[in-house]
Amino acid sequence: MENLISLVNKIQRACTALGDHGEDSALPTLWDSLPAIAVVGGQSSGKSSVLESIVGKDFLPRGSGIVTRRPLVLQLIKIDEGSREYAEFLHLPRKRFTDFAAVRKEIADETDRETGLSKQISSVPIHLSIYSPNVVNLTLVDLPGLTKVAVEGQSDNIVQDIENMIRSFIEKPNCIILAISPANQDLATSDAIGISREVDPTGDRTLGVLTKIDLMDKGTDAVEILEGKSYRLKFPWVGVVNRSQADINKNVDMIAARRREREYFSTTPEYKHLAPRMGSEHLARVLSKHLETVIKSKIPGIQSLISKTVAELETELSLLGKPISANAGGKLYTVMEICRLFDGIYKEHLDGVRSGGDK
Ligand code: GDP
Ligand code: NA
Ligand code: MG
Repeated sequence: MENLISLVNKIQRACTALGDHGEDSALPTLWDSLPAIAVVGGQSSGKSSVLESIVGKDFLPRGSGIVTRRPLVLQLIKIDEGSREYAEFLHLPRKRFTDFAAVRKEIADETDRETGLSKQISSVPIHLSIYSPNVVNLTLVDLPGLTKVAVEGQSDNIVQDIENMIRSFIEKPNCIILAISPANQDLATSDAIGISREVDPTGDRTLGVLTKIDLMDKGTDAVEILEGKSYRLKFPWVGVVNRSQADINKNVDMIAARRREREYFSTTPEYKHLAPRMGSEHLARVLSKHLETVIKSKIPGIQSLISKTVAELETELSLLGKPISANAGGKLYTVMEICRLFDGIYKEHLDGVRSGGDK
């Protein structure tokens, strides 16, 4: 059976192809109904580092200022051990990237293509799929970092625009919020906690990640936070130790960094008792499992919306008439095919559940 997470991602891609990304769209409700995990946090809180450790690859643009200016929908697909990892963009079909430095460059170039060189932001997502033996099946949306000040050449509105874009993603009840806070700053001042508390006051769909634990002042530790005593969320907090800037400059590879992170938690006396639920690999597993659970619980709703969408699309197609030369016709066909596929797989899934064979 095809994996439910990758199926939802196909529908997300179809939505983007149709111009549905939650705003002024052809299908205003389909994108919004799909569960997703959004990464939020202040600038330099460690968002890119967390994403790269989950993927086990360096592939995100870096630099000072506001680097992430469009949502990046990142789909991770696990392939067989020993297979070569590669990446694909939705906007460059059939082009396989095996060089992840080229992936980084393409994200930056594609950001500029949409926003111009004005360094403004845009809510039109970039879709990137990464196929690797070192990932778990997971879809994450990377969003611009919350910031207090615009840099030179960017309008002052950008600060508010970013906040609005993040809020429009995470206020949706189907959004799982991956809230990134650095341990070397007071949790009370965390941008991630600030904004997620606004949209999810009960903490039911917020997963707190504490970065930079290795950078805390001597004599202080993060035990209170990690044990959920400082700020309680439904999910246990996950602490991570990412690569430092010096590590990045020295090209410490991600797989070595993961190993070092494991050692850090299992050998530091304060954190030893928490070690099994710390680190980026644990985080990736928790997220994948949770995303799958949420998708399963939302399937009936998605299903009825899709049936409705298919019906609407069929009407629209018949109105377009033949021959369908317009690009729109092709796009509608794609969405319809995907919706039908979803239909089929959903039924298969239900049969599996009924016969007790749920995978
Ligand atoms: P973003 O702006 O939220 O995407 O933050 P980045 O992931 O780019 O991280 C900002 C800086 O903090 C980089 O220099 C990282 O190397 C560093 N950094 C992030 N997480 C950690 C961590 O857990 N430990 C250490 N020592 N440095 C970190
Ligand atoms: Na922050
Ligand atoms: Mg970043």
